[in-house]
Amino acid sequence: MPYSLLAIPQWLFLKGKMCGIVGYVGEREALPIILESLKRIEYRGYDSCGVFVLENGDSKLHKDAGTIDHLKENLSESEYLGGGKIAIGHTRWATHGGPSKKNAHPHLDGKGEIAVVHNGIIENFQSIKEMLLSQGCEFVSETDTEVIPHLINRSFKKFDQAVNAAQIKEAVKEALSHLTGSYAIIVAVKGFDGLVAARNESPLIIGVGDRENFIASDVPAVLEQTNRIIYLEEGDIAVVEKDSIYIENGGAEVKREEKLIEWTIGDAEKGGYEHFMLKEIHEEPRAIMDTLRGYLVEEEINFGVDFKVEGDAKGKSILMVACGTSYYAAMCGKQIIENLAKVPVQVELASEFNYSDFVLDGTKVMVMAITQSGETADTLMALKKAKRYGCKTVAITNVLDSSATRIADETIYIRAGPEIGVAATKSFIAQLVIFYLLGLFLSKMPASEFLEHLEELKRMPQIAQMVLDEADINIRKHAGYLSKYEHAFFVGRGVNLPIALEGALKLKEISYIHAEGYAAGELKHGPFALLTEDTPVIAILTPDNTYEKTLGNMKEIKARGAPVIAIAEEGDEEVEKYVDEVIRVPETSAIFSPIPNTVALHLLAYWTAKARGCEIDKPRNLAKSVTVE
Ligand code: F6R
Repeated sequence: MPYSLLAIPQWLFLKGKMCGIVGYVGEREALPIILESLKRIEYRGYDSCGVFVLENGDSKLHKDAGTIDHLKENLSESEYLGGGKIAIGHTRWATHGGPSKKNAHPHLDGKGEIAVVHNGIIENFQSIKEMLLSQGCEFVSETDTEVIPHLINRSFKKFDQAVNAAQIKEAVKEALSHLTGSYAIIVAVKGFDGLVAARNESPLIIGVGDRENFIASDVPAVLEQTNRIIYLEEGDIAVVEKDSIYIENGGAEVKREEKLIEWTIGDAEKGGYEHFMLKEIHEEPRAIMDTLRGYLVEEEINFGVDFKVEGDAKGKSILMVACGTSYYAAMCGKQIIENLAKVPVQVELASEFNYSDFVLDGTKVMVMAITQSGETADTLMALKKAKRYGCKTVAITNVLDSSATRIADETIYIRAGPEIGVAATKSFIAQLVIFYLLGLFLSKMPASEFLEHLEELKRMPQIAQMVLDEADINIRKHAGYLSKYEHAFFVGRGVNLPIALEGALKLKEISYIHAEGYAAGELKHGPFALLTEDTPVIAILTPDNTYEKTLGNMKEIKARGAPVIAIAEEGDEEVEKYVDEVIRVPETSAIFSPIPNTVALHLLAYWTAKARGCEIDKPRNLAKSVTVE
C-alpha cells in the first residue's frame, strides 16, 4: 500500500518526545513552580532551558545553556520571588541551532512583549524567516521557533492598545496558519493575564487547579500540583486563565474531558511505561519518522552535507568507525549502502582502528563516525585519527553540538530524541534509517527503482508499529521461556547478521544471560560444540538469497538438540518445519527486514530481562556514555 509522508497517521505524533514546555497561571509565585515542573520533564531534553515571567506589568526572561539546576543556581533570591504569577518555561533538546543561551527558549518578538516556548519542528521556518527579515524583523537565534513570536506580533494589529484573550487567540491562530511541521506552543503576552496554547502533532496537556491552571508537554510536569488533566487534541487552541479554560478547534469551541490521573510521578516520567527502555522501544516508529522527515521532502533526499572527497571518483569509499550497538548499526549500514548505492563501505571498531596500522588514502575515503552520544572516547579518537590521514569526516549522532560534531567536518543528526535507557534502542533504528537514506541518496539506480525503495522506506514507521502492536504478546511468551536459560545464540546472515549481533548484545547487557551473536553458517565451525538442549538459538529467517541455506543450518542446530526460536515473516509456513517456535514480523523486502527484526529483538531482550527481575534501565557496570578509552 503506498504510504505518503504527507499523510502521516495521528498515532505517530502522539508519541513524539523532544523538548519539554510548561506554563503556569494562578495566584502563586510562578517561577519556582515552573522550574520544578521543568525539572520533572528534563528527560525530554536537557541541553538548555529558560523561563519568561510576567511580573506586575513587566516581564523577566532567564535562560541559559545547561540544566535547570544550573539556571536555578544563577537566579538571585529576589528574582526567584519576584511576584510574577504567570510564567512559561522550556527545557530543550536542540534540533535547529546548537544548545546555547541565544538558542534557548522562550523566544521573543522584536518588542520583547510576546514570548513563545515550542516543542516540535517548524519545517518551513527558513522561508518564513526570509519573509520576516525582508519586513524588517530582527532575529537573535538560529532556531525555527523564533519565527512564531514575530508572526504573532505581525498578526496582532492592535498590540499597542490593551490586549484581551480573544484578540491574542486570533493573532496566534493567524500566525499558526503559516506554519508547517509539528508544534506544541505556549504563548505569554505582556499585559494579558493568561496564556494561549496550541498543538499540532506534538503532545500538550492542561493541568486543572483551584484558581490556577498549568500547561505542559507531559503529565509529570504538573502531577505534583494537580492530577486533573485535560489532553489537548490535534488542532486545539486553548486560552488558559487562572479561573477559566477555553478550548477551540476549527473555529468553534470544544469541550475536552477532564481525566483523573492515578499514576505516580515516576510512572508518569516514563509515559506510563515501567522502564525508559520500553518507552524508547515504543518510540522506535517515531524515531524512524522523525529521522525521515529530517532529510526527506517528498521524493528528495537532502542531508545538507557535501559528500565529495578529493581524488579519483572511482576510488571513493566509506569507512565507518563506531563502538557497541553503533558498530552493529554500521555493519548493517555497510550492507545497506553497498546494496543500494554500490559504494564500498568498510567498518571498523573505533577502539581497534585507533591502534592499528591502518592503510588509508585520505583523498579517496570518507570516514563516518557513528555515535549516539557523540561523546564515546574511542570514536572521537578514531575521528581525530581519520583527520590526520587527511580524510573527510562525517559524524552521525543524536546529540546536537556533541564533541563528535565539533571534530567532524560534517554532521548528520539521527533525530531519535533523548535516549535515557543505558541500552541503545531507538537510536540504533534511527541510525539504520540514515543508512537507508544514504544508500538511496548515493545510488545511481533508475528512478522507478529508487521510488519503489523510497515508498517502502516510508512504510517503516508503520512496520515497526505493527511489531509493537501485533508481535509483543507472542514475544513476551518466548521471553518467559528464554529467561530460564543461562546461554543463548543469536544467528542471522547478510543484512541480518548485525541484527543478530545486536539482539545478542541487548540480551546480555540487560538480562545477564550469556548470549553470542553468530553468522548462521559459522556455528558449525566451532560453536556447535556448545549446543545442547540448554542453549536456545534465536534465528533470523528472512526470505532472501540465504534463506534456504539458513534453513539447512537450522536442521543442523536442531540435530544437536538446541531449541530454535525463529524470527520470520507473516505467512512463511516453510519455516515451521525447521524450528520449535516462531515470532512473526510483517513482510518487507529483504533489505528493509532489519527494521521489524530489530524491534522484535529489542522487545525480546526487554521482556526477558523483566522476567528475570533485572535492573533494566541501568544495567550493572555500564554507563550510557563511555568517555574513557
Ligand atoms: C549498547 C550500547 C553501547 C553503545 C556504545 C557506543 O546498548 O548502548 O554499546 O552503543 O557505548 O555508544 P555511542 O553510540 O554513544 O557512541
